[in-house]
Order: sequence, then structure tokens, then C-alpha cells
Amino acid sequence: MGAEHTLRGEYRKIHEHSLRDREDFWLHAAQCVDWDRSPDRAVDDSAAPIYRWFPDARLSLSRNCLDRHLEAGRGGDIALIHDSAVTGRVRRYTYAELTEEVARCAGMLAELGVGRGDRVIIYLPMIPQAPIAMLACARLGAVHSVVFGGFAAAELASRIDDATPDVVLTASGGIEPSRRVEYLPTVAEAVALARHPVREVVVQHRGGFAHDIEDVAADSAARWQDWGLLIDQAPPAGPVSVPATDPLYVLYTSGTTGRPKGVVRDQGGTAVALSWSMAAVFDIGPGQTMLTASDVGWVVGHSYIVYGPLLVGATTVLYEGKPVGTPDAGVFWRMVAEHGVSALFTAPTALRAIRKADPEAALVGEHDISSLKHLFAAGERLDPETQRWIGQALAVPVIDNWWQTETGWPIAANPVGIEALPVKEGSATVPMAGYDVVVLDPLGEELPAGQEGNIALRLPLPPGTLPTLWGDDQRYIDSYLSVFPGFYTTGDSGFLDEDGYLFVMGRTDDVINVAGHRLSTGAIEAVVAAHPAVAECAVIGLADELKGQRAGGYVVLKSGHDVDVEVLREELTSLVRRTIGPVAGFKDVAVVPALPKTRSGKILRKTMRQIADGQEHRVPSTIEDLSVLEELIPVLRRSR
Ligand code: COA
Ligand code: AMP
Repeated sequence: MGAEHTLRGEYRKIHEHSLRDREDFWLHAAQCVDWDRSPDRAVDDSAAPIYRWFPDARLSLSRNCLDRHLEAGRGGDIALIHDSAVTGRVRRYTYAELTEEVARCAGMLAELGVGRGDRVIIYLPMIPQAPIAMLACARLGAVHSVVFGGFAAAELASRIDDATPDVVLTASGGIEPSRRVEYLPTVAEAVALARHPVREVVVQHRGGFAHDIEDVAADSAARWQDWGLLIDQAPPAGPVSVPATDPLYVLYTSGTTGRPKGVVRDQGGTAVALSWSMAAVFDIGPGQTMLTASDVGWVVGHSYIVYGPLLVGATTVLYEGKPVGTPDAGVFWRMVAEHGVSALFTAPTALRAIRKADPEAALVGEHDISSLKHLFAAGERLDPETQRWIGQALAVPVIDNWWQTETGWPIAANPVGIEALPVKEGSATVPMAGYDVVVLDPLGEELPAGQEGNIALRLPLPPGTLPTLWGDDQRYIDSYLSVFPGFYTTGDSGFLDEDGYLFVMGRTDDVINVAGHRLSTGAIEAVVAAHPAVAECAVIGLADELKGQRAGGYVVLKSGHDVDVEVLREELTSLVRRTIGPVAGFKDVAVVPALPKTRSGKILRKTMRQIADGQEHRVPSTIEDLSVLEELIPVLRRSR
């Protein structure tokens, strides 16, 4: 185990058991799933370092999330509440109604030729069709890949090329507070850009958008059809039983290069791990309501808007809106009161936005939030000041939890469903079941308590985490398992204290986190470098009071290109927006005479980042020309 710590209660026993006897622990945890063939084995290590969970079991995740609750006589309970602050509408689905909708959507997909193992891309706003489509894919044993609506056509196209789907499910558009986001031109452009031919595009019609199927279908190689018409003719489809090791979904996430990584999640491990976490971490069971104010395009949405709450027969709220401005910073508290929410899960950036808009938390007092038991925050570091402020405002425990798209569920949290541990500000608390967290120095030696280093997880990872990257075992091994053999490298740095509490301090690579959205500075750099006036550039994450981080670009112009910096900034901003998407929020551009490099030509991004953040920085002895860095220091300091 990583650290010898002093916790002695129930949590400690459970965590130790999960590491000492994985088979026993997870086979026992697996009993909460309704299997078509129960597992006799938990982990299959025959292809280590790639591990598979519950290799001999079969199940339907869709049945576990839906039909099972009907069979238990709970068909009348509310499964899903769509609360759309941007349209002012609230719609509730009972488990019986949601099962019916999912069965028909699965029937529609089956009629389009989708079957077990086939990929379906879901590019939808926060409307009920998004979870319905995900559960419908699961019902057929098909593999969904949800793409966040804030990504532009090129990002969608790269995911189409990697996942090679026959079918793309989309809608007329999404509603942002300031504008309507037209999806159809983006999808049409992505389908045209992709090398892989998409056969079918199915469009959920929404009123109030400028584009319709007719505007895009004629010039597209794909067949475009109306969701509503297809659903009306679709026969309901029953749940298909699949091996537990079958893929449930692929979710693309940013790595250090421009090419996104297709994180795979399997069926059985996901069912077991999410069920375990719903009880142990989120303390939510049947009849209770969870509001996860994320987007289904992110892992938090997959796990805790859709699968987690439905697996345990709880009510989930699908929120279409923002933490502020739709209409105000009291919208979360309004929903807590209106829907009787027990667990609210959001990103620290949303809490900071609320604090900025309502510093005295006056809007909390306008609602009866007595149903709320816990507030959960993840996606980026929860700064102690925000944690304190919101804890006082709501008078409930604020639970930081640390994880990644790759792991699918919290690596570290305060296990309030088992035992509420004392909170330490700035710490995501302790490792969850099956996670053997260690802190390693650059040579792979385990560091003692209190010393910061690379946070790594001893293999095997627990169920519900990624078994591999889509179609690329070698890339999975190279990206995560090769740096420290026997360990999964998280890419985060931090330390464990003497009590075994984990403090996550930040990334060790070029991944940044802008307003809870994970982005690759490498991907932004690739776009900036494509501008005709740009000779070379470096994009680094700058500290941002509201969004945690923002991307800052330092650009060297090609000789002979004497451009207006303001014009260049606008051009680069719009280029990044069109290529990656508006969520990149790329606005900071500085033109500099040269970039600091090592003698082998590597740009000193880390040193630049440390200077910009006002941290102590170390100038590597391999620097090529110290005067370049010295000239850049005032520019970097101005970025703060
Ligand atoms: N579809 C299309 N565009 C989107 C989008 C979506 N789903 N989500 C965001 N965008 C756009 C926004 O409209 C904005 O565009 P603009 O530049 O034209 O204004 C841009 O992307 C940046 O958006 P965002 O980063 O959300 O900033 P914001 O200033 O609009 O809002 C917050 C700030 C803090 C309110 C918001 O970022 C937020 O709610 N963050 C929480 C994120 C979260 O829950 N993450 C999940 C991890 S748990
Ligand atoms: P994502 O894959 O988008 O969930 O992003 C994962 C990354 O976000 C992690 O590797 C961390 O860098 C960061 N992160 C997520 N949650 C936390 C947290 N609670 N504390 C600190 N960093 C976090």
C-alpha cells in the first residue's frame, strides 16, 4: 500500500480488503448487479498489463438501469427529470416511461442496422434524447461515443474517423445563454471532413433553429432522417445480454498531443464500480435524487447523470442551463428545492462563478434546501477558499473528489456513504476501493508522506476504469503504463500526508483544465501554428481566477510578417474556435521575438508556465540562450 496511515475505521478496513483480496472484494460487490451469467472470477490478468474484469460474466447494463426496477415494482418512480432553465420547461419520466423511450430508441437504431459492437456517435445538447440514446445503445450492446456540443466540426470529424460509426445521432442545436448553437452545419461539415463514411444521421428536431435537414442533406453523402418520424415507426427492442468485457462506450479526451484518446469503458466493470460508488461515495440509493450539473459529453455526465443514479434506482436530474445567468446564481438551489435533491455534484469553476455573482450567497436563503445532504465537486482542484465559502453558505459537507475520464469514477474522495472522514482543506481525502495510490519520484521510487511527486496507481486498476484505448492497446500501454512499469501514470502531481490523505496539485503534462473542460495545449498549438504568419508558438495554461486555467499563446512571427497584433489575436481566436470549439476560450495571444528552448530544440513550456504563474522557476542548464528567456519574463508576468 502507498502510505501507512492512521485512519482506523470502517473505511480503512474496506480499502485494505479491496487491495488485499481483489477477487473476494469485487465478487462480493458484484452481487448488486443483476447478471445474466454471474461472475466466477473478478479480474483476468492473463494479458497484463491489460486487465479485464468479470471475464466469464454476462449482463445487460440497460436492463440493470431500467427494466430491473420495473420488475421490482418501481415503474412508477421518477427516473429522470429534465430541467431546462434555457427553455423554462421541466419534464419528468418514470422508470416505466424511460424504459419505453429507450426501448423504442433501441428499436430505431436496430432498424438502421445497429447491433452489438457497432459504434454510434451521439452529438446532442442536454435534452432527454441524450441519455435515452446512450441507454438505447447499451440495450443493443452497441458502443456509444458522446461528443460534447462545444466541440467544432474538426474535433467531431476526428472522433468519427477513430470510432468509425455508421450512425450519428444529433439535434437541431443547443441553447447557450447568449446564442443558439446550430448543430446541423457542424455535423454536415464533420461528416464531409471525415475520411470514414457515416451512413446515417438522425436529427431530433428542436424549434427555434435556423437550419433543418433539407438544408444539409442534399450535399451530404450520408442519409439524413428525422428522429421523430423514425421513432414513431420503431418497434421496441428488448435488452441484449452481452459479455461483461464488451465495450459500453468510447469517450474521447485530451492528451498531450492533438489526437484525442478514445477511453474505453466496459459493461460489467462499469455496472459494479458505479453501483459501489453510488453507495460509498455519493450515499445515494433508490428513491433519492441526484443532480449532477455537468454535461453528458463529459465523463462526470456519463457516470453520474446517466448510469450511476439509474443503476441504483435513484432519480437523476438532467440540467440544461448554466450555474449563473439562467436566470441567476440561485438556479442550483431552486432545483434542490423543487426536485428534493440529496446529492449535488458540480465543478469548482461553477461554484466560483456563483460566488462571483452572489458573494453573500443571498440566493440560497430564497429556497428550501433542507433535502441536500452533500455537495460534491470534481473536475479540477477545489481551492480551499471556495470550499469554505460554499460549505458555510449551504451548511452541508463539501466533498472534493479526484478522478479522470480514464478512471470513470473517483480515485479519491471522502467516502461519506461508508464513514465521513474529517475534511482537510485542499485534499481530495483518501483512495477509494481498489485504488492503490502511490507517489513516485522521476525514477519510479516511492516517495514518503509529505513529498510531492507523480501520482501513480499500482496495477491492476479497479473495475470501471479504462481497460484500454479504442482499437489501440499499444497506445494505452505507451501513454499510461510505460513510464513506471507496474503502475498507471495519472499525469497529476501531488502528495499523500501521514494520514493517507491525498493532495492533488496539478498536471505534470500539457493537459489543461479550462472551466472544468479538459483541453490539450498541444492541440491548440497545432491550430495556432497553422496560421500563415506564425513561425512557431507555445501555448501554456495560465492561472485564471474564475476558470481555474486559461490557455495563453506566445507567438513568433515569420520574418517579413509585420501584422497588427490585435488582428492576429482575433484571427487566432476564431481559428481555434472554429477548429477546436468555443470551449477552448482561447483569447490571450502575445507576439514575442523568440521562444526559450533547450539546446536540443525543446521549448521550455514548464519554465514559462512557472514564471507566468509567479511560482519559483528553475532554468534548465540545457537552455540554449538565456537572454531569450530573460526578455520573455516581463511578458509572461503580464499574463497573470
Ligand atoms: N455547446 C456549444 N457551446 C458551448 C457549450 C456547448 N455545450 N458549452 C460552452 N460553450 C461555449 C460558451 O457558449 C462560450 O462561448 P462564447 O465564447 O461564445 O461565450 C464558450 O464555449 C466558453 O464557455 P464556458 O467555458 O462554459 O464559459 P462561460 O463563461 O460561458 O461560463 C461557467 C463559465 C463557469 C459558468 C461555465 O464554464 C461552467 O458552467 N462550467 C462548469 C463546467 C462543468 O460542469 N464541467 C464538467 C466537469 S464536472
Ligand atoms: P477529466 O478527464 O476531464 O475529468 O480531467 C481529469 C483531470 O482533471 C485530472 O487528471 C486532474 O488534473 C483534474 N482534476 C479532476 N478532479 C480534480 C480534483 N478533485 N482535484 C484536482 N484536480 C482534479
